[in-house]
Parts: sequence; structure tokens; C-alpha cells
Amino acid sequence: MPAMNLLLNGQAVATEAAPTTLLVDLIREVRHLTGTHSGCDTAQCGACTVLVDGQPVKSCSVLALQVQDREVTTVEGLAALAGTVATAEGLHPLQDAFMACHGLQCGFCTPGMLMAAAGLLRTNPAPSDAEIAHALEGNLCRCTGYVNIIAAVRQAAQAMQGATAQGVQA
Ligand code: FES
Ligand code: FES
Repeated sequence: MPAMNLLLNGQAVATEAAPTTLLVDLIREVRHLTGTHSGCDTAQCGACTVLVDGQPVKSCSVLALQVQDREVTTVEGLAALAGTVATAEGLHPLQDAFMACHGLQCGFCTPGMLMAAAGLLRTNPAPSDAEIAHALEGNLCRCTGYVNIIAAVRQAAQAMQGATAQGVQA
């Protein structure tokens, strides 16, 4: 199998992947990072969303070899994402806000929602509710009705902006 290198959650990884191996399978089956979920394998549910070079990507729609020499972040690496001020519990503000706002029930969609939201907040730190809904429209949730998810992303954005402002003042 072809050898490949990538930066996975900040760690340099040397591995190998068949030309047909999907990124989601490399993450889950080879690297055993099972926080990334696989719900449909047809790029429809968003449960498999990860960041590739900071951009949300449905990892079931990408071949593993396509992330050669690129940076991949899964939900396991979310709290350590560059520029993140983690909570005292070691959570990303989005994870904290999803808990506080009841943004999850069964939790199956949650890793994908978190990564899609993280991608949004990288480029738009103060999104409107409409912008949050638009950014998450490729992520399906069968439980929550989305209202609490949007509230969670809004709360996380506010928390992250507060942390940034404190950092500037310090
Ligand atoms: S498993 Fe990738 S979008 Fe559903
Ligand atoms: S919390 Fe169950 S699918 Fe979203």
C-alpha cells in the first residue's frame, strides 16, 4: 500500500493507505479515533466531519491519500486546536456550550456538528444565527431540532470572543 504522511491532531503520522481507503476509515479503523462517526458514507449526514487544513470536510467523501502532507483535526484534537482557550475541564468552548445548552441528546451527530462549527468560528468568530444554520446545513441531527445546537454555537462564539478580549487586555 502507498505510504503517506499527515499531521493528525498536531502529531506527525506516517502510515499507509490503499488508493480506495476513505479518510473516515483511516481515522476510525487505522488510527482508532472513533470520535469521528460514520452515519451514511454518502456525504449526506455530516457525522464524519473533520477539519482538513482548518476547513470542515466530510471525511467519507475524501480519500485518505488526498490528505497527504495536510493537517487533519478530529474531535479528539478539537480542544487543542490552535488559538483555542480550553476550559478548566480541558474542553473546547464549543464542547462546553453544547453541554450547557443541551445541544445533544444521543450524541451521534455531535462530533460532526462540533467540527463544522469549529470551522465556521475560525473564519467568522461572531456569526448570526442564520450564518450558523447555513454552516451546519450539511449536518443532520435526528434528536435535537437544531435550536439548541444553534444556541450552543452562539454561546461558544461569545465565550471565545470574551477569552480573546481578555487575552488582549492581559
Ligand atoms: S458518514 Fe460522511 S456524511 Fe455521513
Ligand atoms: S443528538 Fe442525536 S442525532 Fe443529533
